Amino acid sequence: MAGLFDPLTIKSITLRNRIGVSPMCQYWSEDGMASDWHLVHLGSRAIGGAGLIIAEATAVEARGRITPQDAGLWSDDHIEPLARTTRFMAQYGAVPGIQLAHAGRKASTEQPWKRTRDKPLTIDQGGWERVAPSPVPFRPGDTAPKELTFLEIRDIQQAFHAATIRAKEAGYSWLEFHGAHGYLAHSFHSPLSNKRTDQYGGSFENRTRFTLETVRIMRAAWPENLPFSVRLSVTDWVEGGWTTEESVELSKLMKSEGVDLVDCSSGYGVPSVTYPVGQGWQVQLSEAVRNGAGIMTAAVGMINDPAQADAIIGEGRADIVLLGSEMLRDPYWPFHASIALKKPGSVRMPLPYDYVIQPHG
Ligand SMILES: Cc1cc2nc3c(=O)[nH]c(=O)nc-3n(C[C@H](O)[C@H](O)[C@H](O)COP(=O)(O)O)c2cc1C
Repeated sequence: MAGLFDPLTIKSITLRNRIGVSPMCQYWSEDGMASDWHLVHLGSRAIGGAGLIIAEATAVEARGRITPQDAGLWSDDHIEPLARTTRFMAQYGAVPGIQLAHAGRKASTEQPWKRTRDKPLTIDQGGWERVAPSPVPFRPGDTAPKELTFLEIRDIQQAFHAATIRAKEAGYSWLEFHGAHGYLAHSFHSPLSNKRTDQYGGSFENRTRFTLETVRIMRAAWPENLPFSVRLSVTDWVEGGWTTEESVELSKLMKSEGVDLVDCSSGYGVPSVTYPVGQGWQVQLSEAVRNGAGIMTAAVGMINDPAQADAIIGEGRADIVLLGSEMLRDPYWPFHASIALKKPGSVRMPLPYDYVIQPHG
């Protein structure tokens, strides 16, 4: 039976434990560039002992940013500042990953701490036109996004391809495609946001076409021996929306396209949904995908207790646990978890810390 501190080998990569930092936008870039902030933020979590660190949703084109301050990888200029962070993370034992994303109809908003109006930014306010499978705004009453044409879909897929190649050049050894939280790919999945009548809308096959095509293009550009994951909103949690059963079917298809792991999140595709939030509330979704599709999964969502995290791995409900907000509170969570689980020594921080803090006796 595997435990939280057991290594995990996927393709040519071995994670030193099953603890990952969930991708978290910092909304702290200019023109998409990573900065000292990103080096310290990501670097601290590498020092803290995480096995995997997935850098924030990184836009494959400027239009695909959630806010003007999002990170990006749409130009070669973005590579070196990110490479600085991957070198540091790898030097201190963490596997550096990146989530490539396009925000679709949820793009062009303010940083969350400024979002008093909860409205998209207009062009005058420094925003831009949002794009989506269908001209259906995220919130009723907002300006409708532009419906993507066939050729525009191809352009975006090409942007994912180019960003994949840049991610490799930046030194990442784990790639994630963002197919969750109401952003572009998820908005193709859900019948609530996808009203198309062409080959990208309607049936399950058509609604998943954008994701499967994009995954295929990215997989072909990403080294075969490196892990590739997809984050899904496994369910919309709402009548008439995308379902867990559909996620299981999509995961089977993605597995045959070379996807190694499904990162199981949920929701945020439509507003005003009441989620069953609580300790480990999305673990059941990871379990459903893992058992139903026979693919490795990551569980995420209010995982903050070491015994809980260890049990999720031990009971085979996920292969990796990803921690989001808890990792912001405590970058040394893996170290603290090793003490709580009475497994001292299973997380070793770099020597300048380790020789002082390891419990003795
Ligand atoms: C500040 C912040 C930024 C986030 N940014 C992203 C992101 O870039 N991509 C993503 O897939 N999820 C993002 N999320 C969601 C987290 O990855 C995670 O799924 C969610 O916070 C639930 O985990 P938690 O309960 O451990 O925080 C973000 C969450 C937070 C708190």
